[in-house]
Amino acid sequence: MIDLICGARPNFMKIDPIIRNLSEKARLIHTGQHYDYSMSGSFFDQLELPRPDINLEVGSSTVTVQTADIMKAYEPVFLQGKPDAVVVVGDVNSTLACVLTAVRYGTPTVHVEAGLRSFDRTMPEEINRLLTDQISDLLLITSSEARINLLNEGRPENAIVMVGNPMIDTLLRLLPESAHSTVPSENFGLVTLHRPANVDDKILLGSILDALGELAPLLLIFPAHPRTVKNIRNWGLQSRVPDNLKLVPAMDYLSFIRHQQAAQVVITDSGGVQEETSVMGVPCVTVRPNTERPVTCTLGTNVLCPDPGSIPSAVIKQIENRPDVPPLIPMWDGGAGARIAREIERILK
Ligand code: UD1
Repeated sequence: MIDLICGARPNFMKIDPIIRNLSEKARLIHTGQHYDYSMSGSFFDQLELPRPDINLEVGSSTVTVQTADIMKAYEPVFLQGKPDAVVVVGDVNSTLACVLTAVRYGTPTVHVEAGLRSFDRTMPEEINRLLTDQISDLLLITSSEARINLLNEGRPENAIVMVGNPMIDTLLRLLPESAHSTVPSENFGLVTLHRPANVDDKILLGSILDALGELAPLLLIFPAHPRTVKNIRNWGLQSRVPDNLKLVPAMDYLSFIRHQQAAQVVITDSGGVQEETSVMGVPCVTVRPNTERPVTCTLGTNVLCPDPGSIPSAVIKQIENRPDVPPLIPMWDGGAGARIAREIERILK
């Protein structure tokens, strides 16, 4: 029996293709890191994911307390279930907490989306990635530079397997269904911002809002993460939200991928959105100084824009340079779930 761990919004679309392809018996464990219907439940409904076998219901707190809470809640569940392997995805607190619990008992661990590095240790996700990769037994990677990062950190070649990108399996599976979602009839851009580095800094968040206003009259739809909404409200930044920026609640998966596909441009600080826009050939401007997903800049449609003042010019340039056909990225082809399942079953033998 295998434990499959999920906890936060970007995990659900990565775990889905694994569940669909795994023939081995598995328990789906939800840590409860994300708990709102809009951040969690709606994804289970639209992806038609099985309900979690266990929900640890840890909820929100600081990165440290949340990681510790997940470990405390998972350990008894782990001991009771005695899984033969634990599979974690991505780089959220749930990823590190559960892999750290399992290795203490010598249980084989698998990290899906291993080896991504922003080389920016101020990001909690980078610490989660570094530590998870040091202690996981099988490292399944989405792109070739991840192998180099892992080898540079001393991980053995035979622990690393290229499987492609499971998030893209879910995107390709559900894009046709998403066509039913409504989008604005006029040209629009899509905005998502939730990284602490951008939205936990009042001055920076204000400058980003001002820069988005300079893109008027282009309509910008901004489905805002709870963290971003709280900060705009708490800091009284509502008056800096420009008229062309339409703040809406966090979207469900089908609406969101439909909006991405129909947008002239996407402005984001999310990791997954850089990947999804690349596969769809939609211009993307990432408001960060670095990315752990450089393949989206070299082969995809992404460009980095660390300075809020440069967002308007970067957006205009990206729209002008939109590719005629979507780029092809090796193994981002809808077959990652099957390759991951094969590797998980291989280590159990
Ligand atoms: C987490 C991940 C990040 C991922 C993001 C996607 C870590 C370190 N970060 O960041 O990598 O890109 O999820 O969404 O694991 N909140 C709600 N409702 C919810 C969930 C959160 O209101 O369902 C609020 C919390 O109260 C908190 C804030 O959102 O104030 C942040 O939540 P948290 O889980 O700490 O991290 P994210 O910023 O969502």
